[in-house]
Amino acid sequence: MPVIRLLQTGLVFTCIFILATSCSQTENTTSDQNLVYSVHIAPIIHAKCSPCHRPGSSAPINLLTFEDVTSRLKTIQLVINSGIMPPWPADPEYVSFKGEKALTHNEKSLINNWIEAGAPEGNPKLSPPLPVFHDNSFLGKPDMVLQIPNPVFIKGDNQDKFYMLKIPFEFPQDTFIKAIEIVPGNKKLVHHVNAHIVQYDRGEKADHTKGLPYVDTEKHDKQKAYELLDLPNDDGTYPLLSPSVSNFLPGVEPVLYPEGIGGIKVTKQGVLLLDNMHYGPSPVDTSDQSSFNIFFSPSAPKRPLKEMILGTSGITRIDPPLIIPPDTVMSFTTEYRVPSDMSIVTINPHMHLLGKSFHAYAMTPSGDTIRLIRIPEWDFKWQYFYTYKKIQKIPARSVIKVHGVFDNTSANPNNPFDPPRTVTERAGSMRTTDEMFQLIISWMPYQNGDENISLE
Ligand code: HEC
Repeated sequence: MPVIRLLQTGLVFTCIFILATSCSQTENTTSDQNLVYSVHIAPIIHAKCSPCHRPGSSAPINLLTFEDVTSRLKTIQLVINSGIMPPWPADPEYVSFKGEKALTHNEKSLINNWIEAGAPEGNPKLSPPLPVFHDNSFLGKPDMVLQIPNPVFIKGDNQDKFYMLKIPFEFPQDTFIKAIEIVPGNKKLVHHVNAHIVQYDRGEKADHTKGLPYVDTEKHDKQKAYELLDLPNDDGTYPLLSPSVSNFLPGVEPVLYPEGIGGIKVTKQGVLLLDNMHYGPSPVDTSDQSSFNIFFSPSAPKRPLKEMILGTSGITRIDPPLIIPPDTVMSFTTEYRVPSDMSIVTINPHMHLLGKSFHAYAMTPSGDTIRLIRIPEWDFKWQYFYTYKKIQKIPARSVIKVHGVFDNTSANPNNPFDPPRTVTERAGSMRTTDEMFQLIISWMPYQNGDENISLE
């Protein structure tokens, strides 16, 4: 089906164009005749395709072996040359991130040239071993597993679902958590998860297990959802919500920061809040009961991460205000002046269905540009948390500038309205048909030498 969608959007022309140019490139020294699967292609497929295209993952086909790959060469060529696969909206030439799935120019031309040369296997003995993936944990044996208490019903109406869920927990005592890893239950449908921790200090809430287990965020705004889940303290005030503690997209491995960075202190009673649980469309009624591996830490986090939100619901104003009239393509900006040196580890650009492109960088006081991220073609479905390969220092008095372009014309195939209508941000709304323009930054106050710390 994706291939049909591809053909309909006319991207084949782009493919032919890219193919023609890539064939004329001579970046690689191996001549086309000598390109073989076992030596040149298998390592690329294993690193860039197999993490998603394997049994027990959400992708429709497996891409692990020579046979898997050669049984669909034309389709593979089509999806890689159009840039649809691997899904990685950030421009890898602007900034290259940890765990990047995008193919380099050289990798693309190797695959194309190998296919054009008849896709020979070469000596299978020279092929690297099949990569090992873990269905239950990439990080080892968890100290504790929290599971969604009751299966979440997913109606078979072929619609995406966006839920907010709560998983109440009770630890033996106040503790420190170093990592939380999601283990999707329904591997075909769990698309995107983002988790926070809600903490109750002693006595603020008599029973933190009450309330609805989950709420549809297309129907209720954030505040209403919090009330339905019964998150507020007994006196109606709000408990502490941690920064993002875990996030998931198919093919993404959990991030464990180097020793001493990240981690969180938690009170013994609380709730793991899945504020954004996105299930893909299902043709039949089904359910999900995902679980979460918890890894404790023996000591308090030395350098816990802070979270800063620019734009919608954040600390900076959007200019002009985020109102997008029908039949327009509009640009918006938001800026933040950095008061003291900061060390950025992960960023998460966020827009909804009208998003078209996203660009963020910092201008230092001496006039240098620090690249943060560029997404030439926004893709609502693939909203990664992008982690830098090395900590990114932003000097004091730099200005972080964020530009977003939104397409509210009927030429945007994702436009939720036909004909287009005015779309705006709405305080507290997480509905996909309202817009958002955010850059979420996970950071720490800068310490000497941070810029040399590798996050890989
Ligand atoms: C991050 C996960 C991910 C990675 C990495 C990835 N894919 Fe995919 N792929 C998917 C998903 C999910 C689909 C189903 C279509 C969709 O949801 O967009 C898909 C669909 C496809 C299809 C169409 C399958 C069909 O229905 O016939 C092909 C071909 C494909 N991918 C090839 C590749 C190749 C080649 C690579 C590596 C160069 C790759 N993919 C990397 C997730 C991934």
